[in-house]
Amino acid sequence: GAPVEADISALKPGEMMTVEWRGKPVWILRRTDEMLASLAKTESEVADPKSDIPYSMDTPDYCKNPARSREEHKDLLVVVGICSHLGCSPSGPFGSNVNPQLGADPGFVCPCHGSTFDLAGRVFKNKPAPQNLDVPPYMFLSDSRIVIG
Ligand code: FES
Repeated sequence: GAPVEADISALKPGEMMTVEWRGKPVWILRRTDEMLASLAKTESEVADPKSDIPYSMDTPDYCKNPARSREEHKDLLVVVGICSHLGCSPSGPFGSNVNPQLGADPGFVCPCHGSTFDLAGRVFKNKPAPQNLDVPPYMFLSDSRIVIG
């Protein structure tokens, strides 16, 4: 499929938009400082903190870091919004303690069988989903334009 370009200039901290790429929903979340800080807390609670295990594609090398984002825009999370268990669409983003029963900083919650993902799309341990959400290849044309694919 062809790469998809999106204008992210209106995206405020804490907001997420969805663009379609290869027939899949790609989420673009501009994380707040608080959301980014939560990743240090979830690091020990996720099954694959370094994103070594691919779901349908390898995590790009430039996103193999705790934030799972490109260095020049650490605030932006770009992931495919499809649960790595059986393909449902998780809900979110949820910040800290929205639902303490889900654990700290659940990020995203799959309504089908309860898999939870942190705000970097990393699956929490002991959930039905075995892998993190996919990070597609992407790059920035400018501060306001992103290309996915
Ligand atoms: Fe998401 Fe099963 S499809 S937990």
